[in-house]
Amino acid sequence: MRGRVIALGAALCSIFACTVAPASHATARCPWMSTAMSPDARTQLLVSAMTVQDKLALVTGVDVASPQWAPLAGHAVGYVPGNPRLCIPPLTLNDGGAGVSDAQVGTTAFPAPIAQAATWDTLRARTLGDALGQEAWGKGIDVLLAPDVNIARVPENGRNFEAFGEDPFLSGQIAAAEIQGIQHNPVIATVKHYAVNSQETNRWYLSSNLDDRTLREIYVPPFEAAIDQGHVGAVMCGYGLIDNVFSCEDRNTLTSILRGQLGFDGFVVSDWRATHSVGRAAAAGLDMEMPTGVHFGTPLAQAVAAGRVSSRTLDRMVSGILRSMFTVGVFDHPPPLYENVGQTNVSTNADQILARHVEEEGAVLLKNAGPILPLHPVAGSTIAVIGQPAGALDLAPYLSGGGSAYVAATNAVSPLQGLTARAATVGAKVAYADGSDPSAAAALAAQASVAIVFAYDHETEGEDRPNLELPDDQDTLIADVVRANPNTIVVLETGGPVLMPWLGSVPAVLETWYPGQQAGVAIAALLFGDVNPSGRLPQTFPASGDQGPITTQAQWPGANDAQDAAFSEGLFVGYRWYDHVKATPLFPFGFGLSYTKFAYSRLRMHPMADGSVVATFTLANVGTRAGVEVSQVYVDDPPAAGEPPKQLFGFRRVFLKPGQTANVKILLGWRAFAQWNPNQQNWVVTPGLYRILVGGSSRSLPLRSFYRPPR
Ligand code: NOJ
Repeated sequence: MRGRVIALGAALCSIFACTVAPASHATARCPWMSTAMSPDARTQLLVSAMTVQDKLALVTGVDVASPQWAPLAGHAVGYVPGNPRLCIPPLTLNDGGAGVSDAQVGTTAFPAPIAQAATWDTLRARTLGDALGQEAWGKGIDVLLAPDVNIARVPENGRNFEAFGEDPFLSGQIAAAEIQGIQHNPVIATVKHYAVNSQETNRWYLSSNLDDRTLREIYVPPFEAAIDQGHVGAVMCGYGLIDNVFSCEDRNTLTSILRGQLGFDGFVVSDWRATHSVGRAAAAGLDMEMPTGVHFGTPLAQAVAAGRVSSRTLDRMVSGILRSMFTVGVFDHPPPLYENVGQTNVSTNADQILARHVEEEGAVLLKNAGPILPLHPVAGSTIAVIGQPAGALDLAPYLSGGGSAYVAATNAVSPLQGLTARAATVGAKVAYADGSDPSAAAALAAQASVAIVFAYDHETEGEDRPNLELPDDQDTLIADVVRANPNTIVVLETGGPVLMPWLGSVPAVLETWYPGQQAGVAIAALLFGDVNPSGRLPQTFPASGDQGPITTQAQWPGANDAQDAAFSEGLFVGYRWYDHVKATPLFPFGFGLSYTKFAYSRLRMHPMADGSVVATFTLANVGTRAGVEVSQVYVDDPPAAGEPPKQLFGFRRVFLKPGQTANVKILLGWRAFAQWNPNQQNWVVTPGLYRILVGGSSRSLPLRSFYRPPR
C-alpha cells in the first residue's frame, strides 16, 4: 500500500452510506476490530458472535445488475453486502489481471499477463501487483479476481493472453510476486481458475481428464506458489470438470490438495455461475458462490436448517472468508464506497510509467537479421507504418485481450502516435496505411526507407482461436509489403503464438503481446533502441499448426462434442514435449534476442543443508550495448525419475553494461529434484545424477553441470 489508505476504525457501510465509528468505540462493540489480535483470533471471535443468518449472508453475493444495486453496474462483478451490526465491511469483487476492469474507466490498461510473464521479472511483477491492488482499492474493490495461472496447454486457447504461459515454475513465480503486490494493499487477490482450465470451447461442461501426477506436477504448482509464497487470500474454482467432477465440487482438489496438502486457509470462490450444487459443493470445499446465491442462497439456508450441511461446514466457509479479510486488512482499511469512486481516475502517472516498463521488458525480439534494428532513420526519411493495430486507440483486440480481462483506457498512446513522435526527434516522418487495401499499403512501403507492419490476433474469453494463423488475411498483407520493401519489420500484437509463413523474407519480428495503453511509447523505444529488448518467450511458438503436443481432437477440443478432453500428453506440455520428441519449434520457450550479446562460463553447484542447491556462474556482456539477459536454469532428471528431458527451476534477470561481468547465483529448491509419487501421495527425490543446464533460452544452454541430491 503506497500510503493512500487511512485507518478508519470501523466503517459501517450500507450500500448508500458509510459511517465511520471511532476505533475504540468499534472495538467495544465489535471486539474483533482490535488489531492487537491475530487474524485467526479475530476470525474465531467474530464467527462465535454470528447468527446462522449472518453467516449465510457472507457466502454469496447480490445481483449487481438489479436496480437495487444500480451504482454497481459496470463497476463490479460481485458484491457481498456488509453487516453493520457486526462491523463487517462489504466485499466488492472485480476483474483485473491487466488492470482493474471498470466500465466506468479511470484505471490503467497494463500489458496482458502473457507479456507480464515474458518479463521474467518478479520484482516488476510485485510492483505491478501493488499498482493493481492500489487502483482496485481506489475504485472500491477489495477482492481482485486475478491472477490467472492456468497453464498454456492449448495454444489456441482464447484466454492464452490472460495467463503466464506454459511453464508451472515461471507461472508460479510471477503469480506469487504479483499477489504479494496486490495484497500489500487491503485487497484480496484471487488465483484462478483452480485447478485445470485450458480451453474455452465448451468451457462450462468440458471434463479435463488427467492423471494425478500430471495434475500435481504441471497444473497445481502455480497455485501452490500462490499459496506458499504469495499467501493468496482467495482461490477461484473454474468452469468445467476434472475427471468428470465439477471443479467447484471436487473434494480432491478443493480439500485434499488445497487445504490438506497446500495448507490454504483463505476461501474458495466459484467462477461466475460455476456452482452446481449445495451440499456437495459446500462439503467438497467451496466457500462462496458467485455471483448470486442460486445454490448458496435459500437452498443452502434450507440445507443448514435441515442438517444436510453441518454448522461446522458453514463455519469453515465463513472463517476462510473472514480470515482473508482480516489478514489483508479489509476490516481495518475498507475501500471507499463505489458510488463515490465510479468516476474517479485512479490511474496515476507512476502506474502509466509502470505500464510502459512492463511492456518494454515483456516485448520479445524474435528475429533481427542484418541487424535491421534498432532503427536509425536519417533526417527527411519516411517510415511506413501499416496495419490496423498501429492506429488503434480502442483496446480490444489490439492493446488488450477480450472478455473479463478487458481493460478500457482513456488515454492510450497508439503505436502510430508513439512512432511518429519518436521519429520526429531525428527529423524523420511517419506515413500510415491501415492495410485494408494491401496494394496501397505496399505502394506506401515501396516509397519508405523502412516499413513496419503491425499484426494482431483475436483472443477473447469465451472462444478459442480456430487455428494459429493470423486472421483477416494479414499474412498476405505482410507478404505484399515485404515484397515492396525488404526492409520490413513485423510487430505482433498477439496474445500467444502465431504462425509466420513470411518469416523467411521478413528481417525483423517483435512480439509485443497485447501491450496495454503505453503501447506506442514502449514500442517506439524498443524499435529505436532507447530500450534494449529483454523479454523471453513464456511459451513455445510452433513451426506449424500441427506441431506441438496437442494434435488430436480427443486432446482439443475434446471427444464427444468437446465434452471430454484427454490430457494424454501428460507431463509433456509445451517445451517438455518439443524436447521429448526432439522437434524444432519456430521459436523455443525462453527465447528472445537483445541488441547486445552475452557469454556464459564457470558453472558451479553449491549444495545447501536443506536439499536445495545454489548454481553460480559468470555472465558477461560481450556486445556493445547495455542490456539484460534472462539466465535460465533447467534440471534434467535421471532416467529413473520418468520426467521430461528438462524443466525450468530457476531464472534471473541480469543487467550488464558492455564489457561488464557478473557472478550470478540462482537457487534451486529441493523440489527441483523431486517427482510426485501418486502411490505415496508425496514428493519423492529419485536418487541419481541430475544434469543442470544454464543459458539464455531453453534451446541455448551452454553451461552444464551435475548434482546428486542427498539421500
Ligand atoms: C468468468 C471468468 O472465467 C472469470 O475469470 C471472471 O473472474 C469472472 N467471469 C467474473 O468476471
